[in-house]
Amino acid sequence: MAAYIFDKLRELEEKNAYPLHMPGHKRNLRFMPYDFRNFDYTETDGTDNLHMPEGIIADAQKAMAELLGADQSYILVNGGTSGMVAAVMACCDPGDNVLVAGNCHKSVYSGLVMSGANPIYISPQITEEGLCGGISMRDIFRAFDSYDIKAMIITSPTYEGFTCDIRTIADIVHKHDSVLITDECHGAHFTFSDVFPASALSQGADIVVNSWHKTLPCLNQGAVLSVKGGRVDTTRVKEAVSMVNTTSPSYPIMASVDYARDILSKDKNLFSSYIQLIRDARHELTHCKVLKLVNDSIKGQHDIADLDKSRFTIMVRTDITGVELGKILLDKYNLRIELAGLHHIVAITTVADDPRGIKKFVKAITEMDKKFQRKYIEKIPMTAQSVCLPSMTPRDVYFSKKQYVSYDEAVGKIAAVSVIPYPPGIPLVPMGQIITQEHIDELRLLKTAGCSVIGAENSSIAIVQE
Ligand SMILES: Cc1ncc(COP(=O)(O)O)c(C=O)c1O
Repeated sequence: MAAYIFDKLRELEEKNAYPLHMPGHKRNLRFMPYDFRNFDYTETDGTDNLHMPEGIIADAQKAMAELLGADQSYILVNGGTSGMVAAVMACCDPGDNVLVAGNCHKSVYSGLVMSGANPIYISPQITEEGLCGGISMRDIFRAFDSYDIKAMIITSPTYEGFTCDIRTIADIVHKHDSVLITDECHGAHFTFSDVFPASALSQGADIVVNSWHKTLPCLNQGAVLSVKGGRVDTTRVKEAVSMVNTTSPSYPIMASVDYARDILSKDKNLFSSYIQLIRDARHELTHCKVLKLVNDSIKGQHDIADLDKSRFTIMVRTDITGVELGKILLDKYNLRIELAGLHHIVAITTVADDPRGIKKFVKAITEMDKKFQRKYIEKIPMTAQSVCLPSMTPRDVYFSKKQYVSYDEAVGKIAAVSVIPYPPGIPLVPMGQIITQEHIDELRLLKTAGCSVIGAENSSIAIVQE
């Protein structure tokens, strides 16, 4: 017997790998100048109540809404996941049609199960090297012309830092009397500088969810859901947010979000020195040809509107996989990245980064770039239709009988759970979809490369029993 979690964290603490991953506080005490033990409170004199805020939490949420330009903002203590579930629950009744971008996070599927809404999937564009881009306007028009749609859900930015043209999408959505829910979980920092893409709320989105813990100096799980524009029933939003938040919310988490909002909106220098740092880092990395930093040239292609400069998405155009590069970065340089995929890696930088950590990363990539030969990366062929209906709704799948079968036997059957490479947590096969041979081929590629895939453990997949 041992204290398993504690022991592992102690071990990691000793190794002290530099974090190019979430949470965004990067263990930098400058942004969290408090002892968590002393801040771990409950609802008592003066600490207010997250479910009925009238005091400090109401003030914090009001200040947050002012900063973000929202009508209302709600602090969440269970991550962007809970925000996305609440957003779907607030906007959709059972049986409503919802247009869901194919690169939505698993939390959207949970929201669909709980609300009983019917998804219509719309595929994002895919880059030559297999990354998800934006959503085509032609496909959005086609979906709205074909179906009566209550809400549309998009992911912007993507895990790789690509945004959609939210202003145009919001216009189309609003013309059809529908609402736009934007998963901006990876873009909480957008509001702090023009160097980053414009925030979804400023572009006309009706509900936006931001995981503050991902890209700002906040504790894991600290997130914010915001509403703007009067198209959404705010009573439903409030109820849904209350449903997904615990009645024992963590004060350290709430305080970290509130404190980050306060110091970052007051001291602009914090962001300006960080922005210079990432500009310099990006400039140095432009010389790398094998480990190729995704840069501004991607804008305007594949319906990508803008690129988040804080995110270092690097294509691995050589014989090793992103997973192998991630391992080298850890073993040789003591750098831990956020995501290691088949042909790319993602490193997250934030305002709380130590400049030495970012410089070390740049040096490591520059060194590794010289060691490998450039190779053409073949796009994984996926035959996704641009707009399609699932064979079963997530809710019907959830309540159906399931059966575990081998990967080969699963082809042609309905997925009973989503098959999800993690990170990023975006389903390869969403629950309710027919599993195709292409899905299985990609799944095998990912597993062979050492990527972890939830829903495909022990070489089996859950299908809906026929
Ligand atoms: C696109 C996207 N949306 C939502 C989430 C969930 O956010 P959280 O981890 O804050 O619950 C994630 C998590 O990685 C994500 O990548």
